[in-house]
Amino acid sequence: MKNILLILIVTGCLIACTGNPSHKKTEMDKFVDNLLSQMTLEEKIGQLNLLSMWFDTTGPRMSRDVEQKVKDGLVGGVFNFWTPKAVRKLQDMVLTQTRLKIPLLVGYDVIHGHRTIYPIPIGLAATWDTEMIERIAVAVADEATADGLQWTFSPMVDIARDPRWGRVSEGAGEDPFLGAEIAKAMVRGYEQGDLSRPTSIMSCVKHFALYGAAEGGRDYNTTDMSHLRMYNEYLPPYEAAVKAGASSIMTSFNEIDGVPATGNRWLLTELLRNQWGFDGFVVTDWTAIYEMEDHGVGDRAKVTELSINAGVDMDMVSEYMIEELPALVKAGRVKESTIDAACRRILAAKYKLGLFDDPYRGISDERAKKQIMSADKLALSKEAALKSIVLLKNDKKTLPLDASKKIAFIGPLVKNQRTLLGNWAAAGDWEQIMTLWDALENKYAGAKFLYAQGCHLVEDGYIRRMTDQQNGNVIDDRPAQQLIAEAVQTARQADVVVAVLGEAYDMSGEAASRSNINLLDNQKALLKALKETGKPVALVLINGRPLTLQWEHDNIDAILETWLPGMRGGEAIVDILFGDANPSGKITMTFPRSVGQIPIYYNHKSTGRPFNNDSKFTVKYIDTENSPLYPFGYGLSYTQFTYSDVRLSDSTLTDGGNITASITLTNSGDRTGEEIVQFYVRDLVGSITRPVKELKGFQRIALNAGESKQVTFSITPELLKFYNADLKWTAEPGDFLVFIGKNSDVENNARFTLK
Ligand code: BGC
Repeated sequence: MKNILLILIVTGCLIACTGNPSHKKTEMDKFVDNLLSQMTLEEKIGQLNLLSMWFDTTGPRMSRDVEQKVKDGLVGGVFNFWTPKAVRKLQDMVLTQTRLKIPLLVGYDVIHGHRTIYPIPIGLAATWDTEMIERIAVAVADEATADGLQWTFSPMVDIARDPRWGRVSEGAGEDPFLGAEIAKAMVRGYEQGDLSRPTSIMSCVKHFALYGAAEGGRDYNTTDMSHLRMYNEYLPPYEAAVKAGASSIMTSFNEIDGVPATGNRWLLTELLRNQWGFDGFVVTDWTAIYEMEDHGVGDRAKVTELSINAGVDMDMVSEYMIEELPALVKAGRVKESTIDAACRRILAAKYKLGLFDDPYRGISDERAKKQIMSADKLALSKEAALKSIVLLKNDKKTLPLDASKKIAFIGPLVKNQRTLLGNWAAAGDWEQIMTLWDALENKYAGAKFLYAQGCHLVEDGYIRRMTDQQNGNVIDDRPAQQLIAEAVQTARQADVVVAVLGEAYDMSGEAASRSNINLLDNQKALLKALKETGKPVALVLINGRPLTLQWEHDNIDAILETWLPGMRGGEAIVDILFGDANPSGKITMTFPRSVGQIPIYYNHKSTGRPFNNDSKFTVKYIDTENSPLYPFGYGLSYTQFTYSDVRLSDSTLTDGGNITASITLTNSGDRTGEEIVQFYVRDLVGSITRPVKELKGFQRIALNAGESKQVTFSITPELLKFYNADLKWTAEPGDFLVFIGKNSDVENNARFTLK
């Protein structure tokens, strides 16, 4: 170890003196080679093993005797724990009780905040504010590293077009362009271009790949798609995250072309390393190697062989690598050089993190005290919640509310803390959350708001069996009819009713797919009863995915989608409800009218029989409209924005050239507001069929009432490229339409030719 330390000091000095990153790499390689040369095969394999410290099992196997395995040198990383004290204890164990004293990687699912919890990712995406998302990632890294972590299993960049899939809550939605922009912002914010800073955290892009395309939206299910769709529609966010410098990537549970991702050499080596140039390490998802036995591709030895030879470097929780690899190497089925390569990548990550310099990187009680849930982080959480809230409908100016009126707040989520925090809330403490009701009372002390619970959050027996009955899904003895009767009586005394409904926090997220995505029957019954009072009703939704809201849209005066808005969600909702903030979020997944329309997404192909309402033999259903209820990019404001026609700087774009498309945006309403201006392109003729629209740019523009601004987007041939039938990245000459407008349903366009 003295040797190691000596080399380290020299290395650190060299880096500091030269500041040359390529030099840095050479020194790192030397360091890692030296360390590797001292390691036994078992020790190398130990570095490939990632174990869970406690609780939180999301798969068929649990980690046991972790501390003993750490002492035996059989563990390279751990996750599912934090705090300076706990991490210090474990690194101490490594330093005092293992032969080579190689510090552990310490990871955790820090998905939308560590202690300070921000809105869930689909809510963050609805802000379309990549600058803010990057700031959040920086703040998350700061807080999580102060609490002992060095590695987060985020961002999740899986494109998803099926809102039945519970994990849509964890991603950015259906669009590859927006998904890629958000992925890059998160990786930049987490890693800050330099993992050695004690305030940066190593990202882990997941779930590679195509996890969001599970058949039927059923979590863990099979995926199967053409390579054209894969390259053009599903892979861009993973690639963007890799190119932004992500240092690790997680395999997905699903198969790709018939081979599970975790054993898929094409995916993990050909595409990821050879084509994209990824130089970080690959970790499996929870027990994904073990699960390949159930996929039916081999016994435990075979699936281990498949995974390491495919390009997996680290085994999360299966422990098949430590159990099977020694014999596989002996039998010549896995080369020792393959183990060396995997181990080298893990040691390199530890080196880049500065762990060999300081195994306690970033940890100090003082820093933890200062950084954890600091005022600026909580303010950022509120900013994010405010920007993420989407106004879906607002008839007769039902919103904003007038605080001098009599307002009844009704529903099981008015006083619920746990739901606001959302799923994957890491180390967030839901008991510290201010509910919507607390926020109301806080802000309008002395005001007389009325309240009734109205219904239970979840009554459905099946869902109750599947979700956590703790933390707010409390079912008391009162029958539904009694709760509704009380609510109706309360509503009758009010001028306006606000119904606060949605999903329990664990009805979205992992293993929370739904076959129906409507409001639960008991909640709908309450809403119907409230509507029947004849009072104006605003519906506030707190939930983790697009829901089918046709009845609500047809019958309720105003609808606000607030997602699972995080720690400051209650306050943000109140600010929006009373007009102290103007809603500006826009949805990043299409809201279908019914489950039968799924999959439904804006960037679909034209088909040979494009939809035509007047002609029977065109692409449509006979029992529902073709359009979604709310299209991708949709969201209203309390003010109005008007768009001029699209102006092009030129009608011809040449190779290597650049033209611009612009509009004048005017706030023609009576309030300050922010509009997310969206820019789409349609490639009219291609060597393969092209989507009817593709998002290619967006800007969030703030305008005072009456103010106008020119909004400009640049168009280059690069922006028009796609993967052709030979999977070549190319732009084809021809005519294009550019659309600029408020959502993907925009018609405002202009035409140009690419020469
Ligand atoms: C999830 C991952 C997560 C991992 C570790 C798995 O079940 O699919 O997203 O990072 O568990 O907690």
